[in-house]
Amino acid sequence: MRTQIAAANWKMNLSFKEGKQLIDEILMQEPEPAPGKKVVFAVPSLYLRTARKKIKDKPQYDVSAQNIYHKKSGAFTGEISAMMVASLGVGYVVIGHSERREYFNETNSILAEKINLALENNLTPIFCCGEALQTREAGTQNEFVASQLSESLFHLTTEQLLKVVIAYEPIWAIGTGKTATSQQAQEMHKWLRDVLAKKYGQSVADQISILYGGSVKGSNAQEIFSQPDVDGGLVGGASLIADEFLKIIRALK
Ligand code: 13P
Repeated sequence: MRTQIAAANWKMNLSFKEGKQLIDEILMQEPEPAPGKKVVFAVPSLYLRTARKKIKDKPQYDVSAQNIYHKKSGAFTGEISAMMVASLGVGYVVIGHSERREYFNETNSILAEKINLALENNLTPIFCCGEALQTREAGTQNEFVASQLSESLFHLTTEQLLKVVIAYEPIWAIGTGKTATSQQAQEMHKWLRDVLAKKYGQSVADQISILYGGSVKGSNAQEIFSQPDVDGGLVGGASLIADEFLKIIRALK
């Protein structure tokens, strides 16, 4: 069975103290999720080292950067490289979140460079894809997400692709309280798996975890995660509240 993942994307929220308390509370209430499950905290880069220390002896937990720069190193004041993140013992990095695509002009080809750097540094990329409302209303969402995958991932070898986690996050469902129905999520996840299968073969596609993101909360997580091609969630707002995120962790298959 594919790894089932509950990933918390804190975005630009919480003070250092609040963040530490949140992780402590979750670790206290859910010290040992079952093997095959993974809980990942995508925290602000400043907090990575502390977050990493907190989960150090907990194999089902990991931490993630929310972004890396698309160059290896050099004169890029204020940016953070894949090597720097990896040197803290961090396991994951979110790549291509729609907020970064939109506000920071990250294109599919820049994201391909980030994916390469993440993999070179043994970071597991959580690669985000997803369409805007306009695209869904035009009925072209399948082609749109397929091109996000092909332009940022399809240069990878099979061995490399197997290290990638995909997160489908329809933009119209992010932070809006408007979740995709579990049927809409399943349809898109199945389509993404078919797209992967066409390029890499079914057995490879069947091993890739595909997370759903967009207004996941304690009350809807189980319904969404129960879909056969949904392997957990990438969670924004609800991951900032211990009780909510605990429900989401417990809703993993
Ligand atoms: P919300 O869960 O707040 O809708 O955010 C989803 C998201 O963007 C996670 O990366």
